[in-house]
Amino acid sequence: MKLTIIGSGHVGLVTGLCFARKGYQVLCVDNDKEKISILKKGIVPFYEPGLDKMLKDSMRKKCISFSTSVKEGVKHAEVLFIAVGTPLGDDGSADLSYIENVCRGIARSLKDYRVIVEKSTVPVRTGERMKRLIKKYSGGADFDIVSNPEFLQEGKALKTTLYPDRIIIGVESKKAERVMRRLYARFKAPIIVTDLASAELIKHASNSFLALKISYINAVARVCELSGADVTQVAYGIGLDKRIGREFLKAGLGYGGYCLPKDVAAFAHISERLGNKFDLLHEVQKINLEQRKMFVAKAEKALGLLKGKKIALWGLSFKPDTDDTRESPAVAIAARLIKLGAKVQAYDPKVKPSKIPSLRNRIKLCSSPYEAVKETHCLLIATDWAEFKEADFKRIKKEMLRPIIIDGRNMLEPKNMKNLGFVYHGMGKS
Ligand code: UGA
Repeated sequence: MKLTIIGSGHVGLVTGLCFARKGYQVLCVDNDKEKISILKKGIVPFYEPGLDKMLKDSMRKKCISFSTSVKEGVKHAEVLFIAVGTPLGDDGSADLSYIENVCRGIARSLKDYRVIVEKSTVPVRTGERMKRLIKKYSGGADFDIVSNPEFLQEGKALKTTLYPDRIIIGVESKKAERVMRRLYARFKAPIIVTDLASAELIKHASNSFLALKISYINAVARVCELSGADVTQVAYGIGLDKRIGREFLKAGLGYGGYCLPKDVAAFAHISERLGNKFDLLHEVQKINLEQRKMFVAKAEKALGLLKGKKIALWGLSFKPDTDDTRESPAVAIAARLIKLGAKVQAYDPKVKPSKIPSLRNRIKLCSSPYEAVKETHCLLIATDWAEFKEADFKRIKKEMLRPIIIDGRNMLEPKNMKNLGFVYHGMGKS
C-alpha cells in the first residue's frame, strides 16, 4: 500500500517513517525546498531520539521518498495525510491557512478517489470546511475526508506513534473506514471509529485535559508550599487512584511546546465561537503562565535584586529529549531574568543558538553544565534533562559564588542537595 504525507515537520516525518517501518511505500511532501533537500540527504532537521537511524534505514530499504510537489503526492497514493502546521492566530483561533492551501493543491490534482486524512490538530468542524473547499476546486472528483488525530509526544515520538494507546478514525463513509482499518491493521492498538466532528474534538479535548492536569497539580503545589506539604508526595498519593492516574501530575514550570499551549487556546476559542464560554481552560492557561513568574520570584527572594547577578540556567528546550524551544518556559524565564538585569549563562544538551533567536547575544550559551555555573550566584533548573541528575554537585558547588539551587522541575533530591551544602528550593515544597 502506498501513502502520501503532506507536511514533513515533526508530526509528518515521524508518521511517514513509522508507516514506512510497517512496510508501506511513503512519499513525504513539503513546500520547504531546503527541508526536502536536507531530508533527501538522510538528515533529520530537528532532534528526536532514534529518528536519524530510522530515516537512514528507510532510505536504504527505499520505502521513503521526498518531494516538494503536492501534485506528485496526489498521484502517488490513494491515502493522503495532511500534517501541516496549525499555528495560533492572533485572536487565539487556529490558523488554518496552511491546511487550506494544501486542500486547494490536492483539489486541483484530484482525478480518482482519494482518502484525505486530517492528521494536523484542527478545531472541530474543520473537516466540513475542507470538504467544501476541495469540492469547490476539484471539479467533481470523488474523495472522503477522515480525521485521524495524532498523539505523538516529542522526545518519545517513535514509541508513541508505533505503539499508540488508541487510534481514532473519524469517518463519513464505510469505504473510507475500510481503507483506514486496512492501513492500521499492522498496528497493535484499539481502533475507535467515530464521526468526523467527534474525532476532531477528541484531540483538542485530550490535549486540554493533559494541560488541565498539569495546572491542577501546579495549583495544588502552591497550597503545599503554604501548608508545609510536599507536592511530589501529594501527587504520588493522588495518582495511585486508577481513576486519576499518575501521569501528567509533575508540578513545576508548567507546560510549553508547540501543542498544549496552542491547543488549549484554540479549544477555548472554538468552544466560545460555538456559544459555550470555557472559563476552566482560561484558568488552566492563567495558572500555567503564573508558574514562570513564581519561579523567578523565588530567585528574587533568594538573591534580593537580580540586577547585576550572574545566574546559571540549565535547560532551554520545553522538555527533555528534544531541541524544540517553541513556547518553552525556560526561554520565557531567560528573557525575564535578562529584563530584570541578570546575566544569564545557559546550558542545554541539544539546543543550538539557531533555536533561540530571541535570546541571541543576550545570554551566554555554554557547552557544559559546569561552564554554565562558573562564578554564578544561583542555579536555576528549567528543563528536566536526565543528565542534570548525574552532574557532579560537589564540583558545581565549588564553581558557584553562592550555592543556591532553584529546581523548577523538582528533579533533584532536596535532602541530598542540603547535605552537600546547597540552599535548595523546589516547586510545591516548603
Ligand atoms: C503533547 C501531547 O502529550 C501529545 O499526546 C500530543 O500528540 C502532542 O502534544 C501534540 O498535540 O502533537 P508534547 O507537546 O510532545 O505532546 O509534550 P508533552 O509530553 O505533552 O509535554 C508538554 C509540556 O508539559 C512540557 O513542557 C512538559 O514539561 C510539561 N509537563 C508534562 C509538566 O509540566 N508536567 C507533567 O506532569 C507532564
